[in-house]
Amino acid sequence: MNIFVPGRLCLFGEHSDWAGLHRMINADIVPGAAIVTGIEQGIYATVEKADRFSMQSIAAELKNTWTDFDSSMQTKELRGVASSDSYFAYVAGVASYIKEHYNVGGMKITITGMTLPMKSGLSSSAAICVLVARAFNQLYELNLNTIGEMNIAFKGEQRTKSRCGRLDQACAFGGSPVCMYFDGDEIAVERLVIKKPLYWVFANLNAAKDTIRILSDLNKCYPFAADEKEKKVQEALGVKNQEIIERAIAYMKTGDAVSLGKLMTEAQEIFDAMVAPASPGELTAPKLHQFLNDEKVKSISYGGKGVGSQGDGSIQFLAKDEVSQKTLAAYLDQNGLTSYTLTIKPKHRVRKAIIPVAGFGTRLYPATRFLKKEMMPFVDKDGLLKPAILILLEQLHEADIEEICLVLGDEKDRELYENFFQKSLPEKHLEKLSAAMHNYEEKIFEIGQKLRFIIQHERRGFGHAVYQCRDFCEHEPVLLLLGDTLYSSETKNCSLQMLEAYEQSERPLIAVHPISPEEVIHYGVVSGTWEDETRTKIKIEKFIEKPSVETAKKELVMTGRYYSVFGQYVLTPEVFNILENNIQNEEHETAEIGLTEALAACIGSGLNGIVLDGKMHDIGNVKAYKETVKELII
Ligand code: UTP
Repeated sequence: MNIFVPGRLCLFGEHSDWAGLHRMINADIVPGAAIVTGIEQGIYATVEKADRFSMQSIAAELKNTWTDFDSSMQTKELRGVASSDSYFAYVAGVASYIKEHYNVGGMKITITGMTLPMKSGLSSSAAICVLVARAFNQLYELNLNTIGEMNIAFKGEQRTKSRCGRLDQACAFGGSPVCMYFDGDEIAVERLVIKKPLYWVFANLNAAKDTIRILSDLNKCYPFAADEKEKKVQEALGVKNQEIIERAIAYMKTGDAVSLGKLMTEAQEIFDAMVAPASPGELTAPKLHQFLNDEKVKSISYGGKGVGSQGDGSIQFLAKDEVSQKTLAAYLDQNGLTSYTLTIKPKHRVRKAIIPVAGFGTRLYPATRFLKKEMMPFVDKDGLLKPAILILLEQLHEADIEEICLVLGDEKDRELYENFFQKSLPEKHLEKLSAAMHNYEEKIFEIGQKLRFIIQHERRGFGHAVYQCRDFCEHEPVLLLLGDTLYSSETKNCSLQMLEAYEQSERPLIAVHPISPEEVIHYGVVSGTWEDETRTKIKIEKFIEKPSVETAKKELVMTGRYYSVFGQYVLTPEVFNILENNIQNEEHETAEIGLTEALAACIGSGLNGIVLDGKMHDIGNVKAYKETVKELII
């Protein structure tokens, strides 16, 4: 299994993580908040189950410094390494914590690439801790969500001599920026919406700073401020910080880079005026200020500020555009700094998807005795013959979906998927493939990286299958596709159309398409009010599963037509709450749980429909299967 964990950069809100922790003692302290993003540099590894816990490296970057590590999985031995000065203290700390709290065996980690500079304020230690936590989670199916992985990484690092903050593990969220909130020892995380690309540059000032000293000086101002100077520190890291974070989130959402850059400069001014006096020796930071005030730098950036614990450690700027970003990085390098660029790209609100594929596929019997319904092959638009599920997953990959959860029927299915998406072909078979197919193999692995699996132990219908993904969704909106339908469009990928449409309303969304009156009895049918002149957006007022022809005629006609589900949905956490209630309130333990009822319950608070520019191709029954094969021939 391959794993990548990036380093992280704190854009705003440094120091507020530990400051927020002091709320445990003084309730008047304002909770902390910080905006943090993964960067492009990180740690790449392959991991596999083993009896012992070992680490080796084939990374070119580590060639000259590396020595292998090997330990038993006994917690005493691991804890001993964790509390020593060993290079492997971090990984041993996490492994010891996992071994004590979960039923796991050992693991062999091979570092395959290390592009993250160490000891430069980018949390390389937190990244390796998250990597180990994630590897155990995925190999031993611990079902931890991202916050669970972060907590274990934090606890593991606490077992070493290093002291990390709570925001360091934000690298667990990958490349996209998040806002983390620190209230006592509780953390909460919210993903941020970025409207336009932001061209960031950050650099190591290659000067000296003493983080331990800074932290010790600032911590003296907590939990109770003794004088005006200490009150100012609490105000800056509390109320003032909250205001800055709120404004930063709003500017990112509207794509206002000019105001965001100005806010960086403003945040630094507040820090200099209110926090720096508490640690003058370290926070006066002459080199940082020399570059913040440099006229050339000012002309090509919207603003800049310090990084991490501040002081003369690292510096960051928001460049005016892509060209300025390159010029600025080169200028900093010429002046003795070590710079990195980071382009924060717009992301969709929806970044996760679900496909339930646990059904028996009875209507395709006897083929489904041998082959799962979603494994049936079809010719894709590139001319390759692919299992249906691969066509669906490629479309999600193309729409930039980051994580995909497949609901499977049993462990055998999981093995099937793991073999397909995560294991290489035998050497002899690979040799016969063309260069283009070797590239396609890479794509299969990239998709495999995004996959998560959940087993639906009881087959209680579509709504029940969807509900199994509740923890995977972690309170985010998710895209849902049927596992027995393909989608095509002459213009834009249907899933991408869904993601864009959801952002306009942030309400649950159902894709629909017109059907003939005879077909209503087979599908979920909606009706409501058109919201635009081109008749693509519907405010849904009724949603009935497989209505009779009479009911449909009376209640579901819209501008002379019937509209039924197309097979793509965006579900919000509210839908999962309703599904949970429906499952709990169902008296018969074997009764099927539908999704239609749960979505219909959202009508009062807003349920939207959309007619996509595309077609759906059912493959779930013999007649539809024949049609789809014909339609997809190119
Ligand atoms: P269907 O309603 O077509 O059910 O599922 P099915 O069991 O696959 O097919 P038949 O009716 O026996 O022929 C729609 C999608 O939901 C999944 C299916 O795998 C399919 O992708 N599903 C359905 C589940 O994952 N679990 C369920 O309990 C039911």
